[in-house]
Amino acid sequence: MAGIVLVGAQWGDEGKGKITDLIADDFDYVVRFQGGNNAGHTVIHGGRTLKLHLIPSGIMYPHITPVIGNGCVIDPKVLIEEMDRLEADDISTHRLLISCNAHLIMPYHRDLDGASERRLGANEIGTTRRGIGPAYMDKASRMGLRVQDLTDEHIFRKKLEAALPEKNDILEKLYGMPTYSVDQIAEEYLAYAERIKPHIAETSAVINRALSADQWVLFEGAQGTLLDIDHGTYPFVTSSSPTAGGACTGAGVGPKAIDRVLGIAKAYITRVGSGPFPTELFDETGERLTRVGGEFGTTTGRKRRCGWYDAVIIRNAVQVNGLTDLAITKLDVLSGMDTIKVAVAYEYQGQRFNDLPCHQTVFHHAKPLYEELPGWSEDITGCRTFEELPKNARDYITFIEDLAETPVSIIAVGPSREQTIMRRWPERY
Ligand code: GDP
Ligand code: IMO
Ligand code: MG
Repeated sequence: MAGIVLVGAQWGDEGKGKITDLIADDFDYVVRFQGGNNAGHTVIHGGRTLKLHLIPSGIMYPHITPVIGNGCVIDPKVLIEEMDRLEADDISTHRLLISCNAHLIMPYHRDLDGASERRLGANEIGTTRRGIGPAYMDKASRMGLRVQDLTDEHIFRKKLEAALPEKNDILEKLYGMPTYSVDQIAEEYLAYAERIKPHIAETSAVINRALSADQWVLFEGAQGTLLDIDHGTYPFVTSSSPTAGGACTGAGVGPKAIDRVLGIAKAYITRVGSGPFPTELFDETGERLTRVGGEFGTTTGRKRRCGWYDAVIIRNAVQVNGLTDLAITKLDVLSGMDTIKVAVAYEYQGQRFNDLPCHQTVFHHAKPLYEELPGWSEDITGCRTFEELPKNARDYITFIEDLAETPVSIIAVGPSREQTIMRRWPERY
């Protein structure tokens, strides 16, 4: 059995798409288990740059079955657009499987996401406004419509009739926005159904059969550990479980199906949207990371906030995900810096915190305690082995590794697939 979970160890955008594409060749299935088209995964494959939001990053490999698991929320319009874009690029989507139990993002979810953000004003979460939060709210309140409902017009209409009056009331009375009729939504969504139907499956059974037959399954996380609804910087989080446990509930496999958990982290850290960020840089160094790292959102185009690598956050990610390996990406972006800082703990009102503080106020005001390491000036984008890296770059990685007490098995030194150093990653034989 080989089930491997890949998760973001920070606030998302760690390079999960690139690493998934890099290791996916060895796998038979790549499964998204949570989130929706709030994700933006950049994959450079065969000289082409693809931005994937909903479809797993393994789609480019003809031998892989890509799966959108039950834990995801699906905007069918976006899904079909993404399928069309891939087909236009000669990438076949006919193997794609979509869980019958995944929830649907409805037009009112998108409206409510935007409206609630506007209402929060200065306190906004900074969501991607794709309807993710409202769709998960309806899932939890048992008012959601699922992918399988698309296959039965009667049930689809009945569920919509139950859900819509409350949504219309909120849209009209609270936000002064246009409302929807059942016919209007049914007509739009049942047209999508025709396209989606051939892909609908009981994906948990498919994945479990594959694992029993010793096939390899990669569970591709979206977002990151600190955006997790339970373990993240609540309320500045997404509404799903991007941590490793989410792979079990979101794909329908037991914990024994997971052999390794690979956490992806940048050699620094970024965040898009609101919320606390202890190592955030507001100076020229932060600007430099944004510029050199090209730190603009894949989904919304927003400028990402940048800061120094935070070892407290990674230690927490190791614990909540049970990370067995780390992949450090964007090491090349640090080239040319005289010194590089790493937060090893926080300080708040004279007290030292080696772990994430329990109370949000402490995290909001935490002052990072930094260790400074010497930088390197060499261009490292051509390095393919650990030994080829300049000594200071090697020492930086070893320092990170010691703080995390977890091996750095993969190092990325550029956006393309070959710009990677594989240290301890097993290949399938
Ligand atoms: P994801 O959401 O975790 O898949 O990450 P994104 O795709 O949103 O953002 C990561 C960005 O960094 C993408 O533009 C990648 O092409 C790029 N990238 C990934 N790894 C590296 C690397 O090692 N070096 C550089 N310079 N860019 C990288
Ligand atoms: P990938 O998979 C970075 C952030 C949003 C916002 C918060 C809630 O590309 O790493 P949501 O729309 O999910 O309700 O927004 O979460 N966010 C991400 N940040 N990368 C992502 O995905 C994100 N998906 C959501 O910016 O702060
Ligand atoms: Mg992204």
